[in-house]
Amino acid sequence: MLEKSRGARGLPLYSSKDHPHNSHWSFTRLPRRFTNLKNAIAGFVGLFLFIYYIFIPWATGPRLPPLYSEYHIRDLQLPQNNPNLSYPEGKDGRYIWIGNQCDGVGWGNYMQEFMLDAFVAYEAGWTNVFFNYTWNKQGGPYTKYGKGLIPSRIPLSALVQGPLVGDPWAEGDDTPRAVVKEYFDQICPKSETIKINPREVDENQPGNFPASVLVDKWIQKLATVQSRCVEVDKDELQMFSFWTFGKADVLLDVWPRYSRSPIITQFRWSNLIESAFTTNRHLFTEAHTPVYPYETIPGLLALHIRRGDYEDHCQKLATYGSVFNGFNSFPQFEDKFKVPVTDNESFKKNVYLKACFPSIRQIVEKVNQVRRTDEGKGLKDIFIMTNGRTDWVDELKTELRAAGKWGLIASSRDLTLNWEQKYIAQSVDMLIGQRAQVLVGNGFSSLTSNVVMFRMARDVPPNSNRFW
Ligand SMILES: *[C@@H]1O[C@H](CO)[C@@H](O)[C@H](O)[C@H]1NC(C)=O
Ligand SMILES: *[C@@H]1O[C@H](CO)[C@@H](O)[C@H](O)[C@H]1NC(C)=O
Ligand SMILES: *[C@@H]1O[C@H](CO)[C@@H](O)[C@H](O)[C@H]1NC(C)=O
Repeated sequence: MLEKSRGARGLPLYSSKDHPHNSHWSFTRLPRRFTNLKNAIAGFVGLFLFIYYIFIPWATGPRLPPLYSEYHIRDLQLPQNNPNLSYPEGKDGRYIWIGNQCDGVGWGNYMQEFMLDAFVAYEAGWTNVFFNYTWNKQGGPYTKYGKGLIPSRIPLSALVQGPLVGDPWAEGDDTPRAVVKEYFDQICPKSETIKINPREVDENQPGNFPASVLVDKWIQKLATVQSRCVEVDKDELQMFSFWTFGKADVLLDVWPRYSRSPIITQFRWSNLIESAFTTNRHLFTEAHTPVYPYETIPGLLALHIRRGDYEDHCQKLATYGSVFNGFNSFPQFEDKFKVPVTDNESFKKNVYLKACFPSIRQIVEKVNQVRRTDEGKGLKDIFIMTNGRTDWVDELKTELRAAGKWGLIASSRDLTLNWEQKYIAQSVDMLIGQRAQVLVGNGFSSLTSNVVMFRMARDVPPNSNRFW
């Protein structure tokens, strides 16, 4: 594991201090080794070319993404990784590895799934097996993404802390603590592990069972299993997919029990995320609010604005006739999305773009409108959660200031993040959005819907959750 934190080409990542250039070479001594001037010059030129074109690019080449090895090592050292512990932990405990969680999807999609999966394990009283947030199951530790590289896998404990990644449940809760996949492989040899195909539980998958019914079907299924080790077949469809999370009438019946469960109430972001929050807090608030518990930050308005590839994506949504995600569609919300019923394609497209890819004018209009509501009283600072380009974000800031009196206005682009935080920066945005007095989000986005989920679990006024 430690080797993997070295370069992809197996080269150690040099810091300037241990740079071979500094420690082994001396320019001043070189010419003395040459007997005539011509050779000396040729030697110099050769050396210069070597250093300039070969050595420097090699030694200082693009920095590789982090692998978060120390988090993985922490997972491998959890005290519950011990067969000698008594039931419900140890060698007699019951373990479930939900191996078919989606990969190659954004963090928002992954998160909503592993949390509801963990809820099933919790309700059933089984040990949940957590593993890496996986972008790419195959191959090496890095994957090409756009022009650069990203980590193929990120240990979950680099993103979240608490019982989801093996910390103890609340006092008096004797649910077994979660364990990491590597320990599961040890405590549950293949011969003792039975595979469940989600179709055994949801015959017509996706059957559109209400989420709460589907959760109960899983709990019943686990109660009949004749083994203490279960893998939800890694090669099969997900337990809870887009068909569950995509629609309020399928998803929200699970909310009363899910929102009160420790999966939600004891949820906490990792130290890495929380420390990014603390470092950058002054950019979006003057309130002296502690990082945890995640109380509302008075006066803060958070705007979630997806740009980039979303322009195409939003137009596709129009052709699918998509609706807002489940958690973005609580019946109490004022901002509801109605699929336009019309043959006018350009009208339809505009309705989707306004909700999904709003223009600066539309954003400013919405912000002004929200500020005049009861929930918007006292708003003074803005944080813009966005993947938009800096020049676009600057223009938006200018227009917001022109349209109203604001204190601080900052965006995701302004955050100071260290190398490890950089690759999980979406979660820093989420933590800020979660705590804002008012959020205006993208109803089609799972990043927004997870933020809304946490906000609703904290009992914020429903209409402090707004949508473009
Ligand atoms: C479990 O018990 C066995 C036998 O007493 C011992 O050899 C082993 O080290 C123990 N394992 C752990 C992880 O404590
Ligand atoms: C999870 O990711 C870590 C860090 O990249 C890696 O060392 C480990 O082998 C991965 N575990 C699994 C089960 O894939
Ligand atoms: C279709 O909608 C566009 C944009 O809303 C509008 O400008 C246009 O007049 C409409 N076309 C028809 C035929 O109604």
